[in-house]
Amino acid sequence: MVREDLTVGLGGRAYPIVIGREELIPRDLLEGRSFFSDRCVVITNRTVDKIYGDRLRDAIAASGRSVSSFVIEDGERFKNQETLSSIYDFLIGHRVDRSATIVALGGGVVGDVAGFAAATYQRGVSLVQIPTTLLSQVDSSVGGKTAINHPLGKNMIGAFYQPKLVVIATETLSTLPEREFIAGLAEVIKYGLIMDRDFFSWLECNSEALLAREPESIAYAIRKSCSCKADIVAKDETETGVRALLNYGHTFGHAIEAGLGFGAWLHGEAVAAGMVLATRLSSLNGDVSEDDLARVVGLLERVGLPVKAPGLGVDRYLDLMGYDKKVQNGKMRLVLLKEIGSAYVTSEFSSVSLNEVLVEIDH
Ligand SMILES: NC(=O)c1ccc[n+]([C@@H]2O[C@H](COP(=O)([O-])OP(=O)(O)OC[C@H]3O[C@@H](n4cnc5c(N)ncnc54)[C@H](O)[C@@H]3O)[C@@H](O)[C@H]2O)c1
Ligand SMILES: [Zn+2]
Repeated sequence: MVREDLTVGLGGRAYPIVIGREELIPRDLLEGRSFFSDRCVVITNRTVDKIYGDRLRDAIAASGRSVSSFVIEDGERFKNQETLSSIYDFLIGHRVDRSATIVALGGGVVGDVAGFAAATYQRGVSLVQIPTTLLSQVDSSVGGKTAINHPLGKNMIGAFYQPKLVVIATETLSTLPEREFIAGLAEVIKYGLIMDRDFFSWLECNSEALLAREPESIAYAIRKSCSCKADIVAKDETETGVRALLNYGHTFGHAIEAGLGFGAWLHGEAVAAGMVLATRLSSLNGDVSEDDLARVVGLLERVGLPVKAPGLGVDRYLDLMGYDKKVQNGKMRLVLLKEIGSAYVTSEFSSVSLNEVLVEIDH
């Protein structure tokens, strides 16, 4: 099997990200007791269970372990307290103890809710992430953020809880709907923008191959993205500093998601339009050149992501951005670019420029 491993360097809690192309779970990872205990509970959703559930359970069972699974409904609206409670009911009802391993198989929704269940059940049981969407492979499965939504806000209840292992089987992307795949590319492009100019150029040259889901290109893009994320997480696990750079385009993006009603635009789509706004603001701020701005818009457009934010009105945008968790001490902090490949967090931007960027949306 073609395989490339990375490590998230968190001292005693360091863990590998294994990127493979052919098997859902490489057999050697199931040898010994390093990652999986004798009892595994797979948490997945209906859609993913139908495609990959049996394969994963068979592989785990073939290694001599007991395996059971709990299947949740598919969709962001099930990332809530009821689903979490139903997972606890299952674990308690099946007398699952602290020595068990929870295996999250699915996209970011499954990873976040199963991760939070693992973080809290009996004060924490081992967690393995097997992400199956592009977004979860390059973003949510790495870094230990777990959460459920509250009726009053997204990801309002959660914990930092690192997995023991992340296994990325790029082959699972072959069944991912096109729109979900493209939305995941927004986060991939984000890494190029905030920290790796060469990677951004590589993405420009390889956008066609990526859209064709050419395995070599996909594996490279995932590896690069995970390596960027792992670097940042190792420096700032709980987001007191550089980790905030990962929110590039997200303050605008969250406003778009909330303003249109969650689910109208996919997260990655909103982030793409949000990154264009953030890049425009960076340009007005005197940093990003016209040429870089055009490259950002060009690449996002070429992969089929929206580059024009929806017109919600300036006041509504400001209002929605004000409710973002990234607001600290009443001052809005945004991630801006110096140039493609270099980002920083600041509250020192001109509100006139911000207004200008938002006014432009309606023109
Ligand atoms: N923890 C973090 O750091 C972090 C970071 C970013 C996003 N998130 C969270 O991730 C969630 C979004 O994740 P997502 O974009 O993966 O969405 P998702 O989990 O809803 O998955 C998208 C859709 O694809 C389906 N699917 C998954 N894998 C598939 C496959 N291989 N083949 C066919 N269909 C498949 C799912 O059933 C679902 O319908 C949000 O809740 C967001 O808050 C978390
Ligand atoms: Zn995101």
